[in-house]
Amino acid sequence: MSEKVFIFDTTLRDGEQVPGCQLNTIEKIEVAKALEKLGVDIIEAGFPISSPGDFQSVVEISKAVQFPTICALSRAVEKDIEVAADALRYAKRGRIHTGIGTSDYHIFNKLNSNYEAIIERAVAAVKLAKKYVEDVEFYAEDAGRTPNEYLARVIEAVIKAGATVVNIPDTTGYALPIDFGAKIKYLRENVSNIDKAIISTHCHNDLGMATANTLAGLQNGARQVEVTINGIGERAGNTSLEEIAMILKSHKELNLTTGIQTKQIMEVSKLVSRLMSMPVQPNKAIVGRNAFAHSSGIHQDGVLKNRENYEIIDPADVGVRNSSIILTSRSGRAALTHRLEVLGYKFSKEQIDDIYEKFLTLADKKKEINDQDLLLLAGKERKETRKFKLELLQVLSGKTVTPTATVKLRIDNEIYTTSAAGNGPIDAAFTAVKNIVKKRVHLEEFLIQAITGGSDDMGKVHVQIKYKNDLYYGFGSDTDILTASVEAFVDAISKIADE
Ligand code: KIV
Ligand code: ZN
Repeated sequence: MSEKVFIFDTTLRDGEQVPGCQLNTIEKIEVAKALEKLGVDIIEAGFPISSPGDFQSVVEISKAVQFPTICALSRAVEKDIEVAADALRYAKRGRIHTGIGTSDYHIFNKLNSNYEAIIERAVAAVKLAKKYVEDVEFYAEDAGRTPNEYLARVIEAVIKAGATVVNIPDTTGYALPIDFGAKIKYLRENVSNIDKAIISTHCHNDLGMATANTLAGLQNGARQVEVTINGIGERAGNTSLEEIAMILKSHKELNLTTGIQTKQIMEVSKLVSRLMSMPVQPNKAIVGRNAFAHSSGIHQDGVLKNRENYEIIDPADVGVRNSSIILTSRSGRAALTHRLEVLGYKFSKEQIDDIYEKFLTLADKKKEINDQDLLLLAGKERKETRKFKLELLQVLSGKTVTPTATVKLRIDNEIYTTSAAGNGPIDAAFTAVKNIVKKRVHLEEFLIQAITGGSDDMGKVHVQIKYKNDLYYGFGSDTDILTASVEAFVDAISKIADE
């Protein structure tokens, strides 16, 4: 039977402290709700004493979120704790996270104090927090560089004072996994009341060891991990939530589980990246754009034969639709054919040979061939053979008229004409097409691009539609973007008819 690991997300506190990543309250609520859907156990919503904005965010997140515990940070300072408690007044389950530095650096160089006084302050802070909430977490800042014997004394004292969770942060990201694991083990073996609290890890990534240290902590008895989406956080960041969630999911022999709904991971990663204007590095584990991309011919061939040849995670498990095969001049016909099939195109061997030649010519000029390029290459071939043909498109649109479109389609040598109105010319034209083909399709994606950028340019339009539960892609290109759009829509609908 596997043991539960509590996921404590600090994207909105340690992550949000990063310069340039600040969010307003509405945005924080959006992230908090996404974290709730993702299945995190605790959301550290802010540091209420630090600013009125942080205070308000903790209040509003407490109201908006139902299941996760809402946590507010404070120093071991009376006023901090009172303000944190006040900010948590609407939380269904509130936790105060209070603490103080315990390493020699912090005690002597920052706090100008001594070992005994620090223990007294730590105990007083926990006791005060306990007057407001049952759930009190204590952090021993810079525990990574705190001697184990002294750390054990601090931890024993705060548990005695009522701490329910004891956080052992590697604040500076200095610890080696073997030492960090040994520290957690030491606490388990030398703190007499350790069974009365959950041990938490909070690792920073200054030397790229945050995830390894967190894992070492778990293997030695920690049962809460403090993490952020995309690993954002102070300096080089914190342990990334998605890495820990997927390590525990992939390595069943660890016998540890989380409540993370892993299929939500990509969506939350994108949300945080977009709202915080913090791009995810392309090769970031799990959520980087290249995390499931294969570019060499050998790997492409291997993945197409069996995904598990080169992938240890099913992309669908983290909400990524497909592994991607990056098409370059090194790709073979198999990869090209596969990608075209994913895009909804099936060609004969002769047609593939022809497209492959054009593909190689283009790939020599351009490093990477994307779907748009492929659709352009393949679209021309397909337009000749598709079942539905756009014969006429007439559109009336402007500031003072109701946009209306007349569409004439040829289907199996019969001509069908109809007109429709819409909230814009494209909506009107698409509605007219739908009225002719009588299919309930839903437009999922609509992308217009100019090929070279001038006003006399060719417009390339790529649409994705959903019919029943399947997706169909369509492509159109024309100097008139309305025509290109309707061509793309008709192209996608033709593929439903082909099935
Ligand atoms: O890194 C750290 O030590 C912290 C504490 C405030 C928990 O963020
Ligand atoms: Zn931190």
